[in-house]
Amino acid sequence: MSRIIGIDLGTSTSELAILEEGVPHVIPNHLGEYITPSVVGISDEGDIIAGSEAAEQLLLKPEDTVMEVKRLMGSNTKVSMGGEEYTPQEISSYLLKYLIQCAEDHLDEKIDRGVITVPAYFSDTQRKAVVEAGKLAGIKVERIINEPTAAALDYGIDHMEECNNVLVYDLGGGTLDVTVLEMFEGVLEVKASSGNNRLGGKDFDNSLMDYCLDSFLSKYGVDVTNDKRAMMRLKKECEKCKIALSTEQEYGIVLPFFAEVKRKPVSLEEGIERQLFESLIKPYIDSTREPIQRALQDAGLKKEDIDLILLVGGSTRIPYVRTFIETELGKAPRSSLVDPDLTVVRGASIQAGILDDKISNEDGIMITDVCPYTLGVSILSYIGGIPDNDVFDVIIPRNTTIPVTKEKIYGTVHDNQKAVNIEVFQGENKRASTNNFLGKFRLDGIPPAPEFQQKVKVGFTYDANGILQVEGTIISTGKKVDITIETTGVEMSEEIDLDGWKDAPGSRRYRAVINKAEKLLEQGETGFYEIDIDTLVKQIKRGLLMGEKKEILNEYKEDLFEILYDLEDD
Ligand SMILES: Nc1ncnc2c1ncn2[C@@H]1O[C@H](COP(=O)(O)OP(=O)(O)OP(=O)(O)O)[C@@H](O)[C@H]1O
Ligand SMILES: [Mg+2]
Repeated sequence: MSRIIGIDLGTSTSELAILEEGVPHVIPNHLGEYITPSVVGISDEGDIIAGSEAAEQLLLKPEDTVMEVKRLMGSNTKVSMGGEEYTPQEISSYLLKYLIQCAEDHLDEKIDRGVITVPAYFSDTQRKAVVEAGKLAGIKVERIINEPTAAALDYGIDHMEECNNVLVYDLGGGTLDVTVLEMFEGVLEVKASSGNNRLGGKDFDNSLMDYCLDSFLSKYGVDVTNDKRAMMRLKKECEKCKIALSTEQEYGIVLPFFAEVKRKPVSLEEGIERQLFESLIKPYIDSTREPIQRALQDAGLKKEDIDLILLVGGSTRIPYVRTFIETELGKAPRSSLVDPDLTVVRGASIQAGILDDKISNEDGIMITDVCPYTLGVSILSYIGGIPDNDVFDVIIPRNTTIPVTKEKIYGTVHDNQKAVNIEVFQGENKRASTNNFLGKFRLDGIPPAPEFQQKVKVGFTYDANGILQVEGTIISTGKKVDITIETTGVEMSEEIDLDGWKDAPGSRRYRAVINKAEKLLEQGETGFYEIDIDTLVKQIKRGLLMGEKKEILNEYKEDLFEILYDLEDD
């Protein structure tokens, strides 16, 4: 068996590290870079390429190049590259293959095992997609570890004697994680995690792009949004501008020959002041208040209890992010406690070392993590005497320390009931179907008996990777059904193309609420309601397309309204 390598598979960049004599060593890629762009492409020769080589062709061959695929992991969305469709897992596996090849060449040994980091707020489905990507790339994923936890490990291993409450704020290219943990003499105990899977530097680039595009449109009356190359150029330049504004007060965006106006080439020129940029990203950064408060609350701590703030991820270099955190927590995050770019991968290599017995028990470091979402099943319940079969019954509450196994016992609801269908959901809503559907299974062969007499035991095991196993048992016979909820089937029910919903009969009544919800989703302003809102929007669309009853659609609409009102109140 090979040594285990640590891999930070990021939205924008990826890194590799291995533990040597108790110390993490970051491994460079073939080009000598420690930070590899998370970009995959098809070369002129038709070969799959990754990293900087692929990033370089983004402008020239946008159709043959893919970036930021992490956001799609665990979804059914396909990615097109060179005219062919790929799953997000496949694209990720190409990047992984490249990284592993770099590691093998650098270390001069075979590598077939890895620890891969994921955002703490990644769902069960997203985690499984990462394991699958590893498998496709030819490595066994020995452990999935949460990115903020990895950062804490990296800090903790050099500060074993400290006892602190730590808040890790990880804002990268595409995701935000807030994790609160307690450090006590080499034992790191994660207390709570919260976050937003769709918030990061990418959104700041996009806001700058929108600003420039609007300005260009009003100046020249030309809309370039369909020009893929122009958009790529603009994106690249906006990211450059954003990064410059972390140290400068002003940046001039200049893109010569940006578009043709009346057959003449025109340039895009825009002077951006830091203040303007801050006003564009303020709503995004301010929306992170919610996860911070939620993580603190779930950890049972007040902001005054936090001794140490670790800033992780490239986007925490933005001065406004630092000011925001300081105001929010009443304490300045000290820079240079950890390297914001490499701390996660260093932590991954420490976790790999622990699994590989490279860190002895005496001077060992111990870490426990939590599950970020509530997990449960839908059950039939009588509310005011009326049966309701969409009640979410919690089995593992969010922020329970993992690994964990919990069981609940349910009775049959009909006389001579032969089978039960168990549907598994993840989320924070009382109504099961508005949570994230993970999977279902059927337990049959229940012996005939009057209602409530036969009992079924449902057991949930959440392993150290944050992956769920479900088991159902008929107590009287001992008959068992196990399921590991698979990556496919993330979307509820069968695949239908939801895009056509606007043409479905009766769709007008739902247009306003859907548009509003989608706008919030797009802007990443939904906080931890993201999954709920997304699910409800999909349910309404699917309902419209499938000719669902008006009453049911209206119920979804009301639920959605309620959440949107709640968000507006905050
Ligand atoms: N100096 C800087 N100022 C502002 N933003 C920066 C700076 N340096 C890097 N970034 C941004 O940080 C992001 C990349 O950060 P990082 O590499 O930590 O993310 P990632 O690990 O790829 O993403 P994630 O962890 O969300 O999956 C990019 O959006 C990049 O533009
Ligand atoms: Mg990251």
